[in-house]
Amino acid sequence: MDEVEIPTPSDDEVLVRVRARSVNAGDWHLMRGTPFLVRLVYGGYRNPKFPVLGVDIAGHVDAVGKNVAGLKPGDEVVADLSENGFGAFAEYVCVPETIIVTKPAGVSFEAAAAAPTAGVAALQALRDSGQLQAGERVLINGASGGVGTFAVQIAKFLGATVTAVCSTGKMEIVRSIGADHVIDYTQEDFTESANQYDLILDAAGSHSMREYARVLHPTGRYVFVGGPTRRFVTALLAGPVLSVLGRKRFQTFMLKPDRDDLAFVIELLDAGDVEPVIDRRFGLPEVPEAIRYLEAGRATGKVVVT
Ligand SMILES: NC(=O)c1ccc[n+]([C@@H]2O[C@H](COP(=O)([O-])OP(=O)(O)OC[C@H]3O[C@@H](n4cnc5c(N)ncnc54)[C@H](OP(=O)(O)O)[C@@H]3O)[C@@H](O)[C@H]2O)c1
Repeated sequence: MDEVEIPTPSDDEVLVRVRARSVNAGDWHLMRGTPFLVRLVYGGYRNPKFPVLGVDIAGHVDAVGKNVAGLKPGDEVVADLSENGFGAFAEYVCVPETIIVTKPAGVSFEAAAAAPTAGVAALQALRDSGQLQAGERVLINGASGGVGTFAVQIAKFLGATVTAVCSTGKMEIVRSIGADHVIDYTQEDFTESANQYDLILDAAGSHSMREYARVLHPTGRYVFVGGPTRRFVTALLAGPVLSVLGRKRFQTFMLKPDRDDLAFVIELLDAGDVEPVIDRRFGLPEVPEAIRYLEAGRATGKVVVT
């Protein structure tokens, strides 16, 4: 923890007083610089390029730059800072007006802060990469995590039949957010079953491509969202080859921060179609504990820092 000056917004920015932010796996990848690729993608070969990390924020506008027309002090807002200098783990941050979404009064700061990375990743992975259609069967591996808990609910909203894979202690929560079938991976290996899926969204990376392929419908799609680095590399390299050789499609997903997609997810929250699962709340001085807690894999859904 450090005391720093409150930043001054440039002409096109607003100063946001952050009321809540959520923690993501990306935060500890960036903090540690592992896997090494993140140093090349985000800069900061020896140390993090950005001194204040954290990407998902919800808060209220404190001051606006002179070109800002659509926001005023007091407005409640949400944003993903990952392409704009990070800075969520602080009391104040300057944010370009162009990436800000207005937070509806009915959505809490905590719920809104849970959504930018995990909610938009789930939406884009299902809808864009996965091309999910109503009536299809989707399997979500890693369903109890930040991305997974959004993915279960968004897949249901899109009209899919959802099979969720998680550990024993998290089955009840995953069932409560709408999963049609829940598989406890400590008891059952879904890749050994006779069931087939139109889409597998993989937020855990627990199996090989060959194992996933076994339970994909002949024209099914597999989307790798996250998991161990070796699984990521395999999906990245072998996916395109397998896709060319057969009718099943294998893709590696990369989140593209997008204001319209964030606005869409926030609308789902406001309408009650999606309710973020928030496992634990920490205070701002406890950011290290919050990150440690997430990294240990104990969280169900999102970890929020208020
Ligand atoms: N590609 C992108 O743009 C993008 C964007 C966001 C996140 N990600 C990545 O996506 C992954 C998931 O993110 P997240 O925020 O959801 O992380 P998270 O909150 O840590 O969730 C991961 C979940 O995986 C579950 N899990 C662990 N081993 C499993 C197994 N063998 N089978 C099934 N589930 C298992 C864990 O729950 P249990 O206790 O139930 O095992 C955990 O809740 C991370 O690797 C993250 O870096 C990628």
